[in-house]
Amino acid sequence: GKIRKPRNFVCTISDDRGEEAVYAGIPISQVATPDTGYSIGDVISLLWFKKRYPKWATDFIETVIKTVADHGPAVSGAHNAKVTARAGKSVVESLVTGLLTIGPRFGGAIDGAAKYFKYAHDNNMSPKEFVNYMKKQGIPIPGIGHRIKSVRNPDKRVEGLKKYAAEYFPATPLLDFALEVEKETTSKKENLILNVDGTIGILMVDMWRALGYTDKEINEFIESGTLNAFFILGRSIGFIGHILDEKRLGMPMYRHPWDDILYQVEKAEEIK
Ligand code: ACO
Ligand code: LMR
Repeated sequence: GKIRKPRNFVCTISDDRGEEAVYAGIPISQVATPDTGYSIGDVISLLWFKKRYPKWATDFIETVIKTVADHGPAVSGAHNAKVTARAGKSVVESLVTGLLTIGPRFGGAIDGAAKYFKYAHDNNMSPKEFVNYMKKQGIPIPGIGHRIKSVRNPDKRVEGLKKYAAEYFPATPLLDFALEVEKETTSKKENLILNVDGTIGILMVDMWRALGYTDKEINEFIESGTLNAFFILGRSIGFIGHILDEKRLGMPMYRHPWDDILYQVEKAEEIK
C-alpha cells in the first residue's frame, strides 16, 4: 500500500497548491473581486473561523475593526509606535512595539471580559455577586473602566456598538447582563463604565451564541485569544498611520523631558 509521509504542519484554513490560493475553499479571485460581495468581515470569518458568517455578523466584525482602528496618539500603543519610528526604525519594527502594549490594561481586555462576564452569567450570578467575586479574585474586572471616558463623558464607540447590536443581533443576553454590572460599578465610580474592550468581548459572545456555537467552542475561542485579535488587527491600522505620520513629518529622535520625570535615586551613602 501507499506509505504516507508524516507531515510537520497541518493547515485547515487555506491552500495555495492549485492555480490560485483559496480561503477556506473560496478562490482569492472570488473573494477579492469587487461586486462578489465579500467584505473584510467575510475574509476574517473565512480565515479565522472557516465559515462564511451571515451579513449581520460580518458587518458587526467590520464595525468592530473600524471602531478600534485608532484612538489618537496618546494611548500606550500609538505612543510606543511613534517613539520607535522617531528612533529611525522601520514600519514593521515600529508597529510591533505598538502591538506589544496590547494586553490586560490596554486593548487586550477583550478575551478577559468575555471570559469573566460569561462565567458570571453562566453561573447565574447577580451583578453585585459578580463584582464581589472579581474583588475576591483580586483583579480589576476586564472590560470595565476607562482613563478618560465616564458616565458624564460617554464613549461614543460603545454607544455605536450597542446600537448596532440592538438593531441587528437576534438577542444580547450577555450585553444585557453587562449593562446591569455597569450600573453597579458606575454607582461606585463614574469612570467604571463598560468600555470598548468589554463591549466587543461581550457582544462577540452574543454573536457566537446566535450563530449556534456551543459553549465549549466559545470558551476555546476565548482561551486561544481570538477576541483580542480583533483589537490587534484593527489597531494596527491606526499604529501604521501614526508611524507614517512620523516619517512624513520627519520628526527627530525623541527624548523625554527631565522635568516630567521624578528622579528619586538614593545617594551612594544611602545604599546599604
Ligand atoms: N474593576 C474594578 N475596579 C476598578 C476597575 C475595574 N476594571 N478599574 C479601576 N478600578 C478601580 C481601582 O480598583 C481603583 O480603586 P481605588 O481608588 O479604590 O483604589 C480605582 O478604580 C482607580 O483605578 P486605576 O487603575 O487608577 O484606574 P485607571 O483610571 O487608571 O484605569 C484602566 C483605567 C486601566 C482601563 C482600568 O479601569 C482597568 O484596568 N480596567 C480593566 C482593564 C480594561 O478593561 N482595559 C481596557 C480599557 S479600553 C481600551 O484599552 C481600548
Ligand atoms: C483606546 O481605544 O485606545 C482607548 O480606549 C484607550 C484610551 O485611553 O483612550
